[in-house]
Amino acid sequence: MDRFRIQGPTRLAGRVRASGAKNASLPALAACLLTSEPVILGRLPAVRDILTMRRLLEHLGVITEDVGGALRLEARGKAHDDEAPYELVKTMRASVLSLGPLVARRGHARVSLPGGCAIGVRPIDQHLAGLAALGADIHLEGGYVEARADRLAGGRFRFDMPTVGGTENLMMAAVLARGTTVLDNCAREPEIVDLARLLVKMGADIEGAGSPTVTIRGADELGGAEHEIIPDRIEGGTYLIGAAMTGGDVTLEGACPGDLGPLLDTLGEVGATVDLADGAIRVRGDEPLRAADVETAPHPGFPTDLQAQYMALATLAEGTSHIQETVFENRFQHVPELARMGAVIDVTGNVARVYGPTPLSGSPVMATDLRASACLVLAALAASGETEIQRIYHLDRGYERMEEKLRSLGAQVERVAG
Ligand code: EPU
Repeated sequence: MDRFRIQGPTRLAGRVRASGAKNASLPALAACLLTSEPVILGRLPAVRDILTMRRLLEHLGVITEDVGGALRLEARGKAHDDEAPYELVKTMRASVLSLGPLVARRGHARVSLPGGCAIGVRPIDQHLAGLAALGADIHLEGGYVEARADRLAGGRFRFDMPTVGGTENLMMAAVLARGTTVLDNCAREPEIVDLARLLVKMGADIEGAGSPTVTIRGADELGGAEHEIIPDRIEGGTYLIGAAMTGGDVTLEGACPGDLGPLLDTLGEVGATVDLADGAIRVRGDEPLRAADVETAPHPGFPTDLQAQYMALATLAEGTSHIQETVFENRFQHVPELARMGAVIDVTGNVARVYGPTPLSGSPVMATDLRASACLVLAALAASGETEIQRIYHLDRGYERMEEKLRSLGAQVERVAG
């Protein structure tokens, strides 16, 4: 298993371009199952989760081809395997996004239940209840969910909580249902809006994506489309936090500043200077950092996917930062690893109190999930001495060419194979 060896402290400085958003790419890939015509997706990031989704789609009979930096997907005909097997789903929960499109277009889907993961239990009850509300017949057996419907019928469904994957799955199911579907208490993440844009290009009729109520008028069939994925706000946000915490000066190019509002406000609060110009975001860490509290929440709140990275910054800020995680129940696995590097953090329930500033020192640490790994990379950049981060396959799931991007900003990062 590859490791990162990082020599700190480093000041991150320079320009870096955001890759396409992993979490917008995954539903966009699943959406190709909704039509027999080609869907061409640009700006997919070269990360492990995208490769896994591509393998799953190929397994489901989709023909994929790289064409000049984009991916062409063609889900011809209906007579293919409709099963997302355990081997693929266990490595990537987003495989469950194949459920809605499969049952909508092929009338049948058999998808392995994803089970829990490092950051929490993460059930899919809302996806299933929503599909049932559209008339799907759902059975759970042998660790698989099986959904059937001759044709889904539009209906009204209210999510118990805003769920990103649930909203995406239901939108993809409803676009081919007979009649109108109204989804309430939807998640409002920019990745959902991007999926809706793609579906509309494919001929779907969707209103309200990005708001709590989404209305979908079902079509008999959808066609092909070309679509460019939005920039990855979480990847970009990670580099901006790195700039603030290393006293650096980083310009993130090709970003959507509006999608990063809560992070940029918090960076301002801790004392970093944030400037926006022409789709670029410049963050400078030219003052000592001050503590600021953060509470994660569904969009437009502070993203849970940046909580761990922000905690690395909080260890260097003067004062006590309260960091509350409200989206996932077990997303503080980076805390003991940060403590190994010198951080002082108390956790009570879903609140971490970070007492700063504490000098960080390079240590051997272990990555436990994608964003926790990014937190450790940031801490290592700011720490004195060498940090070796094990199990960086977690990072490879979601950060495109991270070590190259960091090196271009002046970091000393080496990937050690084996
Ligand atoms: N939930 C349920 N039942 C459901 C669905 C969700 O109880 O049927 C709960 C979850 O357990 C969680 C909360 O609702 O406590 C929100 O989960 P959500 O469904 O929104 O998360 P997700 O769709 O599984 C996506 C991202 C995650 C990101 C979350 C929250 C993708 C592929 N994944 O997951 O990204 O943390 O939304 O914003 O889009 C990551 O990139 O590191 C990552 C984990």
